[in-house]
Amino acid sequence: MDTFVIEGGHRLFGRVRINGSKNAALPMLAAALLTDQPVTLRDVPSLADIRNMLKLLGELGCTSEAGLVDGAVRLQSTDESLSHARYEIVKTMRASICTLGPMLARRGYARVSMPGGCAIGDRPVDLHLRGLAALGAQVTLTAGDIYVKAPPGGLVGATVFLGGSFGSTVLGTANVMSAATLAKGTTIIESAACEPEIVDLANLLNAMGAKITGAGSPRITIQGVEELHGADYTVIPDRIEAGTFMMAAAITNGDLTLDNCPMDALLSVTYTLAACGVHVQPLTSLPVTSTNGFGHGNGHNGHANGNGYANGNGVRHRTPALTITSGSSDPFRNTDNDPMRRSVRVTCDRVLRPVEVTTQPHPGFPTDLQAQLAALLTLADGNSVITERIFPDRFLHVAELLRMGAKVIRQGSTIVISGVRGLVGAPVMASDLRASAGLVLAGMAAQGTTVVNRVYHLDRGYERMEDRLRSLGACIERVDEKVAMGAEAVGAS
Ligand code: EPU
Repeated sequence: MDTFVIEGGHRLFGRVRINGSKNAALPMLAAALLTDQPVTLRDVPSLADIRNMLKLLGELGCTSEAGLVDGAVRLQSTDESLSHARYEIVKTMRASICTLGPMLARRGYARVSMPGGCAIGDRPVDLHLRGLAALGAQVTLTAGDIYVKAPPGGLVGATVFLGGSFGSTVLGTANVMSAATLAKGTTIIESAACEPEIVDLANLLNAMGAKITGAGSPRITIQGVEELHGADYTVIPDRIEAGTFMMAAAITNGDLTLDNCPMDALLSVTYTLAACGVHVQPLTSLPVTSTNGFGHGNGHNGHANGNGYANGNGVRHRTPALTITSGSSDPFRNTDNDPMRRSVRVTCDRVLRPVEVTTQPHPGFPTDLQAQLAALLTLADGNSVITERIFPDRFLHVAELLRMGAKVIRQGSTIVISGVRGLVGAPVMASDLRASAGLVLAGMAAQGTTVVNRVYHLDRGYERMEDRLRSLGACIERVDEKVAMGAEAVGAS
């Protein structure tokens, strides 16, 4: 197993492109099961979860060619007799459940192993099943597998309420919306998830010939069609990766430019960060100098990496000159006017301010950035409060942050973080994808060495994270766990 060894105290500077969204791409890959024609998706990130989904699709008769130009993946469903998503794959990736709706709609039948809980909670799928049953599917659970079967004439449109005790469901909305594209008549999903990934899926499905309106609002209307065709579609950039890099800039008191940044999907995040003293400024194609009186050329140049944290003693330096410079360097397209593909510069105040945040369904603050924000707030000047409303137990990073000198108290689904002047490096354990990201951020801000174990969790959602952070000035290496343990033992002797 791999670990990250991080030497803290290095400010991040430079430019990084935000990759395509994992959580948008996963249900889109599954949507290729809705047609026998080729579907090409571009800017699909190269991640463990994506590879698992392609493997699963292969087992379901859908061939794929990955690693093409522009991060493209070309899929084609060629054998529709294979409709069993096995436990061995489903247990490695809960998003396997996305294949349920498409297979049911196109093949009239599917058998998908029931995903279990995971480190962040129980994660039931009752709403998915309720939605598919409302379209006429017969749903049974036997020996850990979900069996769904369409009625003899096929699925029939209906009004479906998808709200649950924790709000709507993202992948449940994806499943029901996908299935309804081929149902007879009109389906209305009430209390639909409003996440940008649902809008992106709806756009892909419409490009394949579906008739979907209202995606992005709590009411989605789907007019069923006879069949869908192939499409060529580019996945939106990953808002969670973008938010993670914003917080990486802030926690190291750095200065980053993010290209291909989905600002329109990040309003709650940039609003929260602004309250903390973190500035996220869209760049324009015209050179505009800010009014803070510091402007001189490109603020990214001339700041040596690794000198920012006053040798890790926790003293944060003044934000360097803030000058808005050129537009996008996105390799795929000119993105200046696309609110989902902006170039933005992230800088922060010398002292971070505490905030009160509650995670909520979109457009609220995303649960997938809660751990990273918690790491950032350990260094704020005062008491912050985070309440988790999506996955009330998603706090496994807290015990690890305590090992690094953070002051955090948990009361049910709320944590109170009392900011400290500095964190201290320590061996810590990653337990889920976003908790791992939070620990990497903490490690980059801490004094001394942090060893983050089990980074396979991180690899599920961040492509070559260590290389990208290193190119921005972080001191971070991927090493085999045994080597890292050896180094720790030597350090201790
Ligand atoms: N829920 C139910 N019943 C259901 C489905 C969900 O009660 O049938 C509850 C869940 O237990 C949770 C809430 O509803 O309390 C929201 O869960 P949701 O179904 O929306 O989560 P998901 O669709 O399984 C996606 C993302 C998660 C992200 C959540 C919330 C993907 C592949 N996964 O999961 O991403 O946290 O939405 O935004 O899109 C991650 O990327 O790290 C990650 C966990």
